[in-house]
Amino acid sequence: MSKLSSSLMLVTLAGLWGVLHGQQPEKIESALTCKECHEDIYNQWSGSRHARSTPAKNILFAKIYELSQQDTNGETKLYCIRCHAPVTQINGDVDIQQEITNEGITCDICHSIAELSDSPQHWPNIYEPGKTKRGPSKDADVDEHEVVYSELFENSRLCSGCHGDMLDIPGTRSCGNLTICDTDFEWRGTTFAKEGKSCVDCHMTGTQGLSVGKEVERTAQHDFSGAYSHEKLQEAAKLVLDVKEFGGKIIAAIQVINKGTGHLLPTGPPARMVFLKVSAFDHNGEEVWSNYTNNPAKEDPFGVFHIVFANLEGKIPSMPWLASRIVKDTRIRPGEHRQLVYKFPSEGVTKVEAKLFYRLAPPPLLDKFEITDETLRKAYLMAQSEQIITIE
Ligand code: HEC
Ligand code: HEC
Ligand code: HEC
Ligand code: HEC
Ligand code: HEC
Repeated sequence: MSKLSSSLMLVTLAGLWGVLHGQQPEKIESALTCKECHEDIYNQWSGSRHARSTPAKNILFAKIYELSQQDTNGETKLYCIRCHAPVTQINGDVDIQQEITNEGITCDICHSIAELSDSPQHWPNIYEPGKTKRGPSKDADVDEHEVVYSELFENSRLCSGCHGDMLDIPGTRSCGNLTICDTDFEWRGTTFAKEGKSCVDCHMTGTQGLSVGKEVERTAQHDFSGAYSHEKLQEAAKLVLDVKEFGGKIIAAIQVINKGTGHLLPTGPPARMVFLKVSAFDHNGEEVWSNYTNNPAKEDPFGVFHIVFANLEGKIPSMPWLASRIVKDTRIRPGEHRQLVYKFPSEGVTKVEAKLFYRLAPPPLLDKFEITDETLRKAYLMAQSEQIITIE
C-alpha cells in the first residue's frame, strides 16, 4: 500500500474508532478561541507564515501545489497538505472547505502533538486534540483548560515532524537522496545542536511580556520569523571583503559567512536562492565591472548559493516531484566561511563593493504563474561590504 493511501486510511480509521466507541472524535479548536485569553500570542501567530500555509492564503504554495498534482496525476494531493494544512489529518477535510482547516498550522495543531512516531510507515506527528493542551511548563497552574508538560516543547523535536524528512515525495523518480526542506536534518550535528541551541531558541525567542493579560518574565514569541523577515535575513550572513591590486589587476577575495542560521543557507524549499553581487566603480561612481549583468545563476554560478535538480530526461531545473538527481548544491553550512575570488582589470577602479541578496522564488517561475506580489519578487539585501582603492 502506498504511503498516501495509508495516511488516508489512518484519518478514516481514527474517525471510525470514535464512531464504534460511541465517542465524538475530538476536534481541533480554532485559534479564535485561544485568542479570547492568549491575545498577544494570537496576534504574533496570525502574522506568521504558519497562519498562511494553505492554498487559499498562500499564492506561491497554491500554484506549486496545483502544478505538482497535474504532473503526478494527483499523487501529491494528500502528501503536501499533511504539513501545509495539517488539520486535514484530523478532520479529513482534504479539499480544505472548512474555515478551521484554512487556519493552517494553527495553535491547537502544535499544542496537540502528543508524540512523534519513529515508524517509517507513519508520518511522525501524532495528534491528540482535546481539552488538554501540551506545553513547556512543568508547573503550569491553569483552571481554564488542562495543561500537560511535554518535552517536545523543550527541544526541537516538535518542529521536526514538518521541518524534516521530505525524502519520499510521490512521483519522485530517484531513490531517496533528494533532501528537500529538511531543516531539522541540516541542524542536527551542528555546533548549535550540540550546544542545545534549538529551532525554538532562534525562532521563538522568549521575552518578557504579557501572558493571558499578566506581565511575565518569559513568553515565547509566536511570530516564527524566517526567510520572509528582512531582520531575520540580516542576522543570517556576513561578508568580508579583501581587495588587492597586483599587476594591473584587482583581486577581490570575498568570504560569505553563514553566521546566524542553525542550518544551511538558504534552507527550505529549493526555490530559495542567495546570491552575491560584486561591482567595481570609477571615481564618478559609474560601475565599470560586475560579476553578472542579468542572470547571476548563468553568469556566475559559484556566486549563487542554492540547490538545483534535474529530471530523468536531463531537464534543468526540475521540480522536486519530477527530480531524479541533484545537479548542484552550493548552500552554505552553518558557520562556514565560503571563499570566492574575483579578478578583473584595475584601470579606473576606485571602489569595490560586495552585496549579498536573498530571493524567495526565481522571477521566471513567478512569471510562469503570473504572480506579481512584490514580497516574492524582491531581492532582499542580507549583508554588504565595500573597500576604497588607492592606486599609485
Ligand atoms: C478562558 C481562557 C483560556 C482559553 C480560551 C485558552 N487558554 Fe490556554 N491558558 C490559559 C491560562 C490562564 C493559562 C496559564 C497562563 C499561561 O501559561 O500563559 C494558559 C496556558 C496555556 C498553555 C501553557 C502551558 C505551559 O506549559 O506553559 C498552553 C500551551 C495553552 N494555554 C494553549 C491554549 C490553546 C492552544 C488554546 C486554544 C485552543 C487555549 N490555550 C485557550 C487560559 C486560556
Ligand atoms: C542560530 C539560530 C537558528 C537556529 C538554531 C535555527 N534557525 Fe532557522 N533561521 C535562522 C535565520 C537567521 C534564518 C533566516 C535565513 C534563512 O532563511 O536561511 C532562518 C530561516 C529559517 C526558515 C525559513 C526558510 C525559508 O526558506 O522560508 C525556516 C523554515 C527555519 N529557519 C526553520 C528552522 C528549524 C526547523 C530549526 C531547527 C531544526 C531552525 N530553523 C534552527 C536562524 C536559526
Ligand atoms: C508551530 C508550533 C506552534 C504553534 C502554531 C503555536 N505554538 Fe504555542 N508554543 C509552541 C512552543 C514550541 C512553545 C514553547 C516555547 C518555549 O518555551 O520557548 C509554545 C508556548 C506556548 C505557550 C506557553 C506560554 C508562553 O507565553 O510561552 C502558550 C500559552 C502558547 N504557546 C499558546 C499558543 C497559542 C494561543 C497559539 C496560537 C495563537 C500557539 N501557541 C501556536 C509551539 C507552537
Ligand atoms: C504541522 C507542521 C509544522 C510544524 C509542527 C511546524 N512547522 Fe514551521 N512551517 C510549516 C509550514 C508548512 C511552513 C511554510 C508556511 C508557508 O509559508 O506556506 C512553515 C514555516 C516556518 C518558518 C518560515 C517562516 C518564514 O518567514 O520563512 C519558520 C521559521 C518555522 N516554520 C519555524 C517552525 C518552528 C520553530 C517549529 C517548531 C516549534 C515549527 N515551525 C513547527 C509547518 C510546520
Ligand atoms: C514534511 C512536511 C512538508 C510536506 C509534505 C510539504 N511541505 Fe512544503 N513546506 C514545508 C515547510 C516546513 C516549509 C517552510 C519553508 C522551509 O522549510 O524553509 C514549506 C514551504 C513550501 C513552499 C514555500 C512557501 C512560501 O510561502 O514561500 C512551497 C511552495 C511548498 N512548500 C510546496 C510544497 C508542495 C507542492 C508540496 C507537495 C509536493 C509540499 N510543499 C509538501 C513542509 C512540507
